[in-house]
Amino acid sequence: MADARLPLTDAPTHGDRTHTCGALRESDAGQTVVLKGWVDQRRNFGGLNFIDLRDRYGLTQLVFSPELNAELADLAERLRGEDVISAKGEVRVRERKNPEMATGDVEVYVTDVEVLALSATPPFVVSENDPKATKPGEDLALKYRYLALRRSQLQRNMMLRSDLYQSARSYFHANDFVEVETPVLMKSTPEGARDYLVPSRVHPGQFYALPQSPQTYKQILMVAGMDRYVQITKCFRDEDLRADRQPEFTQIDVEMTFATEEMIYGLVEGLVAQIWRDTRGIEIPTPFARMPYAEAIRRYGSDKPDLRFGMEIADVSDAVRGSDFKVFESILDDGGAVVAIRVEGEGERGRKPMDKLDKDIVRKQIGAGGLFYAKLPADGSDFSQSVKDEVFGRDKMQAVIDAVGAEAGDLVLVLAGTAPKVFEQMGDLRLHMAKETGLVPEGADGPWEFLWVTDFPLLEWAEGEDGEPGRWHAMHHPFTAPTGEDIAKLATDPGAVRSQAYDLVLNGSEIGGGSIRIHRSDVQSRMFELLGISEEEAQRRFGFLLDALKYGAPPHGGIALGLDRLVMLLTGATSLRDVIAFPKTQQATELMSSAPDVVDPEQLAELHIATVGKASSVETTTPLASDPT
Ligand code: AMO
Repeated sequence: MADARLPLTDAPTHGDRTHTCGALRESDAGQTVVLKGWVDQRRNFGGLNFIDLRDRYGLTQLVFSPELNAELADLAERLRGEDVISAKGEVRVRERKNPEMATGDVEVYVTDVEVLALSATPPFVVSENDPKATKPGEDLALKYRYLALRRSQLQRNMMLRSDLYQSARSYFHANDFVEVETPVLMKSTPEGARDYLVPSRVHPGQFYALPQSPQTYKQILMVAGMDRYVQITKCFRDEDLRADRQPEFTQIDVEMTFATEEMIYGLVEGLVAQIWRDTRGIEIPTPFARMPYAEAIRRYGSDKPDLRFGMEIADVSDAVRGSDFKVFESILDDGGAVVAIRVEGEGERGRKPMDKLDKDIVRKQIGAGGLFYAKLPADGSDFSQSVKDEVFGRDKMQAVIDAVGAEAGDLVLVLAGTAPKVFEQMGDLRLHMAKETGLVPEGADGPWEFLWVTDFPLLEWAEGEDGEPGRWHAMHHPFTAPTGEDIAKLATDPGAVRSQAYDLVLNGSEIGGGSIRIHRSDVQSRMFELLGISEEEAQRRFGFLLDALKYGAPPHGGIALGLDRLVMLLTGATSLRDVIAFPKTQQATELMSSAPDVVDPEQLAELHIATVGKASSVETTTPLASDPT
């Protein structure tokens, strides 16, 4: 569109850029160069116009001197942030160097400018160096994602992500892995979420599912003799979103024939060490620590414990038994537990903040019955407790204090309830207190507390909804092998059967999960039966896998790492959105292109689909940018 502000250069003559905006150094002084990029900031200082020119590589200061060229100086006055120019000029050493900038020793005295593109007024200031720059609201930044992506933090995240792909691929290539692409239009694979479905035009009423993971295909590749498979692949899960969950995310998906748990641990530790080295130059010590699931729940109330701080949970059930405090007694009589943690240096908290913690966090957020506590004054005088001394004897509370190792100035928090739930609730409270008291490091400078969580239960019991009977669910997925010595318990005590499943946890985030698989068709059929999947349904949904397992299926196992989560932790980002180029919102919408969207009735007819209910396009909360002015 024609623009009144500045004419565009119709026939540029500068040719290719000679340098990027991050390249020039003092040794380049005297050279004539061509730089191309976006106008980051313009300043007028001492009769000269300065423009910082920006590209992915950095910023370079351009100088427009009216004495050198009055016309150019006038043009510079009319350039605005985000215009795209080509600037030709001479590199000079700066009088006042800027040590903050990689190119800060030099500037380019411009002798010619070509205007390549003009920018409409952006809905937010893109330059991070502009004193007026503020972080744009999340919706605005997502709608104008191309502008948000020009900012250095997101650019750095995308570059680290790209480095990570290279690092991972070179590792697997060096270790004899074959990268195989599995279908995106496939049959449903159960990973515990809802499927995204794609209607078939050719087969009326039939649907493909987008992969929640390539689990079945990668197992079949083992039957096919591929031996070592890897794929950096998109997975799709229609589930409730959180900061560390996207509906569309990327896995580094791995499967190995004749794999043992030890082989997987060794392989992944080598991979992670290489990724940290290649992307951050950080040496990660290996092997990683390990902890059985049951211990993780008991000590940290979580299957993904954050080990960067202590505050371990103590089961004080035995120590508190036999008091006059009915709440504890009845919970203990019903087989429940009383658990406690020590919060260092918080013993002087007032009544009000304690009441707030009880009401807003413990009851509302965590869903526990109520908070009990003891406060130990910093001067070493007697502790006070939330339950009256006559009801819950001081000797009992002293035993709790001793169990968690609390000292003068500390706070002891106690919860009671059914087990193992109360451990998980205490795990949540532990995390909350750690965050509140500044024990959780922010950013990406470590420490890096990796942990293998092992020996997951094979099954978990889920109560049925709306009068439906309860049933067993696979804790990882239905293809996971039970631990050999527990197989006998499958018939008698399924809940006690451990599996050969493992998760890799880093600083309280689950960054990977996998298992050794069932490689026998008969055992896989028994597993489906246990999960309440009828033989008929098992055949319909997984017949291809059950068949494949009948033709000499070797033992095998694998893992998938959450690539987005790895990048998030490596960059110190607080949301997956900051490490994905075009992420989705909490409502699973992509605001820039407005997806999902309604489609033409003809398209629906072709797909043999009629919709029920009112469909409307994704609402855009922000107006479109005005035309360039
Ligand atoms: P799992 O379901 O544990 O295992 O997924 C593996 C890893 O993928 C990441 N992840 C996610 N990342 C972002 N957004 C999501 N919605 C999301 N869901 C999962 C996590 C997780 O640890 N087929 C098995 C792997 C196997 O058994 O080999 C699987 O998909 O970091």
